[in-house]
Amino acid sequence: MCGIVGYIGNNDSKEILLKGLEKLEYRGYDSAGIAVMNDTGVHVFKEKGRIADLREIVDLGVMANTGIGHTRWATHGVPSKVNAHPHQSSTTRLTLVHNGVIENYDLLKKEYLQNVHFESDTDTEVIVQLIDLFVSEGLEVEAAFRKTLKLLKGSYALALLDSQNNETIFVAKNKSPLLVGLGDGFNVVASDAMAMLQVTNQYVELMDKEVVIVTKDEVTIQNLEGETITRAPYTAELDASDIEKGTYPHYMLKEIDEQPAVIRKIIQQYQNESGQLVIDQDIVDAVDQSDRVYIIAAGTSYHAGLVGKQLIEKIAHIPVEVHIASEFAYNTPLLSANPLFIFISQSGETADSRQVLVHVKKLGYKTLTVTNVPGSTLSREADYTLLLHAGPEIAVASTKAYTAQIAVLSILSEVIAKKRGLEVNFDLIHELGIVANAIEVLCDSKDEFEAIAREYLSTTRNAFFIGRGIDFYVVLEASLKLKEISYIQAEGFAGGELKHGTIALIEDGTPIIALATQESVNLSIRGNVKEVVARGANPCIISMKGLEMEEDRFVIPEVHEILTPLVSVIPTQLIAYYAALHRECDVDKPRNLAKSVTVE
Ligand code: F6R
Repeated sequence: MCGIVGYIGNNDSKEILLKGLEKLEYRGYDSAGIAVMNDTGVHVFKEKGRIADLREIVDLGVMANTGIGHTRWATHGVPSKVNAHPHQSSTTRLTLVHNGVIENYDLLKKEYLQNVHFESDTDTEVIVQLIDLFVSEGLEVEAAFRKTLKLLKGSYALALLDSQNNETIFVAKNKSPLLVGLGDGFNVVASDAMAMLQVTNQYVELMDKEVVIVTKDEVTIQNLEGETITRAPYTAELDASDIEKGTYPHYMLKEIDEQPAVIRKIIQQYQNESGQLVIDQDIVDAVDQSDRVYIIAAGTSYHAGLVGKQLIEKIAHIPVEVHIASEFAYNTPLLSANPLFIFISQSGETADSRQVLVHVKKLGYKTLTVTNVPGSTLSREADYTLLLHAGPEIAVASTKAYTAQIAVLSILSEVIAKKRGLEVNFDLIHELGIVANAIEVLCDSKDEFEAIAREYLSTTRNAFFIGRGIDFYVVLEASLKLKEISYIQAEGFAGGELKHGTIALIEDGTPIIALATQESVNLSIRGNVKEVVARGANPCIISMKGLEMEEDRFVIPEVHEILTPLVSVIPTQLIAYYAALHRECDVDKPRNLAKSVTVE
């Protein structure tokens, strides 16, 4: 969370920084700020709220070729103008932006900065005051920066300006993502290549505990000891149009609509010339040789993992456990003799998952990351990576990454099954093709989902989703989607579990959305619907063709039974989207959230 940018070159930096921050807003949008530097000194503009609010207070008359910027998701200190970055030292010589969390900031404050007056409640201000203290004791800024970095415990991506040197941005990284972008006569800094795609597609990855001295013509990477490191740049394979909304009112709607194309792209990416599904042999061997797979993930990715468990167990016959990353880290279960860990993460940056990755790597276990972001932290640090090929997901609520995660796990399961000589009695490529077509049909039925959202969810204060078998996992995701963007208190339950307590919450008119896509539980989930209807609930049954009954509100096209989550989730994504719209919520940027959760 939090995003940072920096620019040093021949052009005015303000618009480049603001545009960059707009692209990073998915990382946090509590407050934002920029600091630009010219011969007259450093000029700081910051505001509570969105980049649009910041734009209104930036003085367009200040021309400056060097600058840094920040968009914030509050960790230490409430969202406010005072706590917004950039932060300055008391002397105002130094100005800093920071993404991450400094765990020992209080200790450092007590040990070194007793006499310093702090403006904000942030851990970041401790860093900038500390650097300034070491400068006042006689060190050059670069040496003071390095000395401070050695004292910090925690995560940081930092960009620092020294008002007495307008030819340099000092940069450092540990655990939080950070890239340096290269240009002709300028260089940039960004948490994500997307931010600076407007000016360059050439980037250099930074590793933990590296310091970078960035001038307009040169980028010097060093370790904390000052030894120079050379690293070749790479080309960011992003198309600028991938990160624009185009004619869509929201990224979320665009990303929902992209799902058929994503499924088709995944089939293409994992297919060889003779039409077979293939996965890197090392990955296949690692999964095949494991006696148990542990899936670690958070939020929507955790829900995809629950479906992944069904796929891997049913198709590849390997037992799977699925764990919430933040729980696993502190409550590690008894592990099997030869486990393989799969980390599912759209962003590849989730700190809760990374913490587990670091832990299990220390124990010597093999790790595989399934992610949408090549070069992300989880991808770099795991032994192996499988990419989602879903294109940038910008709306905070995850949609296409969820379906991509399930599709990729289905391919992994199939390839492992073949390697193990197991019979797979369906043609996965063909079935995924049917899935893509079915999603297209659903995306063309938006009016129906808008009507459902209006009828059931425009004024309710709560809602329930129920399902059995694999539908249960989908309703967990459905309820998360609804609550995170519409703020309706929504819960997903196993249909048979309601009567063990939750049914007490049913009142006249309580909306119950039930999924019925599995033949084996079709009658029992309908029985559960009857139980709640008898207590006044307002039911909306979404079934699959072939299982439909007269009372059903919507029937989704038929797909292979094991792949239904890829399709049954679409109505729930669209219903959540329209419910949020009807309630006038900010669909793409729901309150209190950020897309990339880089704090534990
Ligand atoms: C919900 C959502 C989150 C993420 C979770 C994990 O729509 O997007 O629940 O799924 O924060 O993020 P990743 O997948 O990036 O590890």
